[in-house]
Amino acid sequence: MNNPFRGLLVALLFPVLALAAEPPAASSTSEAKRPPGYAVASAHPLATDAGLEILAQGGNAFDAAVAVSAALAVVEPTGSGLGGGGFWMIHREFDDLDLVVDGREVAPISATGDMYLDRDGEPVAELSRNGPLASGIPGEPAALVHIARVFGELPLAQLLAPAIRLAQDGFPVDEKLAGAIVDHLARFSPAALAVFVPDGSPLKAGDRLVQSDLAQTLRRFAQGGRDAFYGGETGARMLAGVRRDGGIWQQKDLEDYRIVERKPIVFLAGPYRVTVPPLPSAGGIAFQQVFQILGRKHWPPNDPVLARHQMIEAMRRVYRDRAAWLGDPAFVEVPLEKLLSRDYTDALADSIDLARATPSIELESPNETLREGDTTSHLSIIDAEGNRVSATLSINLGFGSGYMAPGTGYFLNNEMDDFSAKPLAPNAYGLIGTKANVIAPHKRMLSSMTPLMIEGPDGVAVLGTPGGSRIISMTLLASLAYIYGYAPQDIVKLGRYHHQFVPDTVVYEPGAFSQAEIDGLRKLGHQLSESARYYGNMQIVVWDRKARTLSAVSDPRGIGAGRVVMQAPPNTQAGGQGRMIAADRQAN
Ligand code: GLY
Repeated sequence: MNNPFRGLLVALLFPVLALAAEPPAASSTSEAKRPPGYAVASAHPLATDAGLEILAQGGNAFDAAVAVSAALAVVEPTGSGLGGGGFWMIHREFDDLDLVVDGREVAPISATGDMYLDRDGEPVAELSRNGPLASGIPGEPAALVHIARVFGELPLAQLLAPAIRLAQDGFPVDEKLAGAIVDHLARFSPAALAVFVPDGSPLKAGDRLVQSDLAQTLRRFAQGGRDAFYGGETGARMLAGVRRDGGIWQQKDLEDYRIVERKPIVFLAGPYRVTVPPLPSAGGIAFQQVFQILGRKHWPPNDPVLARHQMIEAMRRVYRDRAAWLGDPAFVEVPLEKLLSRDYTDALADSIDLARATPSIELESPNETLREGDTTSHLSIIDAEGNRVSATLSINLGFGSGYMAPGTGYFLNNEMDDFSAKPLAPNAYGLIGTKANVIAPHKRMLSSMTPLMIEGPDGVAVLGTPGGSRIISMTLLASLAYIYGYAPQDIVKLGRYHHQFVPDTVVYEPGAFSQAEIDGLRKLGHQLSESARYYGNMQIVVWDRKARTLSAVSDPRGIGAGRVVMQAPPNTQAGGQGRMIAADRQAN
């Protein structure tokens, strides 16, 4: 792509972000109470279609989220799957319920704090990234069963039918998947090679990918639910493979896995209500802190270089706090009240020098190299009742651990690498942590996944993206763009930039900064590094209550699809039939 992504032209035409805690303005009677249809955006067109199929059958947004998640597990095996986990942010319209289904993986019972260290006490990346020793206990299957049972209206078997069909009948491999197979095949276990490198040649774009073992696993799951994944034939095969090939899981690990329903972090930014995930996602805390820091600064200033400088300095400080304090709240005392207090974030804001970058070393940090990563996946859904789901799902790095237990058909994650193998030692994303995020049995590893929703005077946005440590900065820039009036198709195109405290470098996409901004930021002392590639894969759906429109847009960096189906108002509606009005995937 040739510089297609404009930078976030800071909103000089829009009012200053007023962060006074005012509730969203009450809806006027001329505004729609319900969306004019339903909308799905996900990282793959076939997964989006799976969601639309379920909505057309009378399912709600939660049913559709299960169907899309399961379909992504089949058609985008690089990013998420049954062997992984995620966070499903849910809004149920009739009782205004907001919650996060935390299906994050947990460390196995036999895990120890030093399990990835060599004899000299140094982390061995290979151990926490490749093979079944790198895998946490999967959470996605338990989360899907929970969402279907508690929030959905259709049976699990119906929700999994599109995924089963895609696995059994196959689908054409796209260019991205073909490239990823070549990049990762050295990490694949024999069972994975048999699927993706049949007859000794990696599948190419256009080849049909049939996943018979995965289809069987999904069928058993559809019939038997949770027990048919964590136990039964699937559980037995998974456990036997993991133990034979170097993992440490026990039967009890699979029996004991539980999702957690969590209360999201909700805060007000002027008339906007921002709903973000709590720990073990680091995203929500970082979001609230950045908004408060920017509010204190009356961001954006009337100068694009200064606006970016302030944003970068805010990112630096909140990623420092991520490293210093954040971990699974069931295991560590996180000083949340302090971290989110105005006094504290005002002090962070006041420590930003407008005339120069604060070297991270002054905030006490080592320096390491950032590695790129944007696997993981995302889906955003609004149904015609106004129910919504924003879900980010992951097996961590591309194809997770590369390990597939024989006879199961899905990759196991390598989320164990999201723990701090050793305090201050960087993980695959260059993220550092402290004892708050060290490994312990049953503990959830800290995540950057930030599925979110923003509700404002004009409507609602549901969005998220993959991208490892950069998820938080990407969703932050996108959220501010929404608040400042950008259209969804422009939000996904915005150039991205990122600072994560360590390394002390601003990574930016080609085209994200103008030359004047690059010069200006360098003059302030920022180290800049143009990313070798575009990153992220944002999926956004927006319901504009005033204009009575729905939009669903998929990031042009990926191959996903956002689609909207308009419905006639209830009194004129015939049999729930919808009319498709938009297929606004934006190709590279
Ligand atoms: N595995 C990426 C994350 O959870 O942040």
